[in-house]
Amino acid sequence: MGSYLIIMILLLHATIDAHTDPPLWSQPEQVHLSYGDSPDEMTVTWVTQSEVHGSAVEFGHGKLTELSTPARTWEFINQEAKRDNRSMWIHSATMGKLQPATTYMYHVGSAIGWSDVFIFRSQRVDAEWSPVLAVYGDFGNANAQSIAYLQKAAQMSEIDAVLHIGDFAYDLDTDVGLIGDAFMKQIEPIAAYIPYMTLPGNHEKKFNFSQYRNRFQMPGEFDSMMYSMKLGPARIIMFNSEVFYKNEYPDNYKAMYEQYHWLEAQLQNANLASERAVRPWVMALAHRPMYCSTMDGYYGHCNNPNNPVRVGLNNVTREYSLEDLFYKYGVDLQFYGHEHSYERLWPLYHDTVCNGTVNNPYTNPTAPVHIITGSAGNREGQTGFDKKPWSYSAFRSDDYGYTLMKIVNHTHISIDQISTDKGGAVLDSMILVKEKHGMGTFTCHKNSKN
Ligand SMILES: [Fe+2]
Repeated sequence: MGSYLIIMILLLHATIDAHTDPPLWSQPEQVHLSYGDSPDEMTVTWVTQSEVHGSAVEFGHGKLTELSTPARTWEFINQEAKRDNRSMWIHSATMGKLQPATTYMYHVGSAIGWSDVFIFRSQRVDAEWSPVLAVYGDFGNANAQSIAYLQKAAQMSEIDAVLHIGDFAYDLDTDVGLIGDAFMKQIEPIAAYIPYMTLPGNHEKKFNFSQYRNRFQMPGEFDSMMYSMKLGPARIIMFNSEVFYKNEYPDNYKAMYEQYHWLEAQLQNANLASERAVRPWVMALAHRPMYCSTMDGYYGHCNNPNNPVRVGLNNVTREYSLEDLFYKYGVDLQFYGHEHSYERLWPLYHDTVCNGTVNNPYTNPTAPVHIITGSAGNREGQTGFDKKPWSYSAFRSDDYGYTLMKIVNHTHISIDQISTDKGGAVLDSMILVKEKHGMGTFTCHKNSKN
């Protein structure tokens, strides 16, 4: 009887042990691309839920396994207050020496598991390229109204890249990062085919933006928080509006000064005669707007005369004012999100409308143009507008959707707002025309009348 009991106990233990082994999640998931530091590079980043070593990307334009680059792998710990942490492993590899404008196939993985095969087209470097970019912010996992449109547009090669200007998943860290995982899987049908370029918003602030900094691998040396790209005839500068908010950003003044000086150096370089000759357009994008006419509350941005992104340290001295910096260096176009709506503004500077002419306001405007595009869809819904638009508001809509920008050539950019409420119809269109670019071309001084 005694030996029978011992055998039963051993069997029971064996059964319990067999059922308590955690599953092995070594399969690559959440595959997404981003532009590298130079035009002949493309970075691919993915996740495994279990620890995997020896990861790599294999790629080629004639044969899948023609070339291979080992990945950098690190453990990322999803944190959440009052919950157990959850580890996952992030892998990132940069494919280099790509031939321009060439279709490559690739897969990612290791000796214990490979992803599906995806394709991408390497960057064009010729002066005739007219990149088409989808631009939007505030795009989540639930109520992701634009997702199917963007997936199809990416797979049909109708867009060359995405610029997602802050606020992801709602939120990347929610439910110990499981919402982040679901969102990254949801965008894989876009981001495994075209570069998914990002910048941080306020929804990424938890744990010092660690979810954002780890899941996305942007070019440059600032942990994906700010960087610039040269695409066709444009210099595109992605920056971080959260440094202006001390409740959002640790040691925010230091980060704000560092970013300001980095932006100024970028703009000085972009304004070299040799640079403007090749890339006449200069644009800047971030999450929180300088101007808008949305009902975003007393502490919001639209009705705040001290909006720090616009005025810097204060609205009298305007030290570190990005509105002044961008005006000085001739930044042609700016995109922001945060407001869950679309709003096209008249060219403006210091609250003053600075149209080109009455009949052609966007032809040779005398100040930068701002577009707000934060309506791609998320669980918070749309923001709603002030009853009366501000004088600088040219068109606004709270339809869900996203912006398509085509950088046509040295003088023309077209911007279309796509409404997913209206089945993908174009809700609003404008063409920005500039025959001259650069410092000194803006002549709309404070309180001037146009
Ligand atoms: Fe936001």
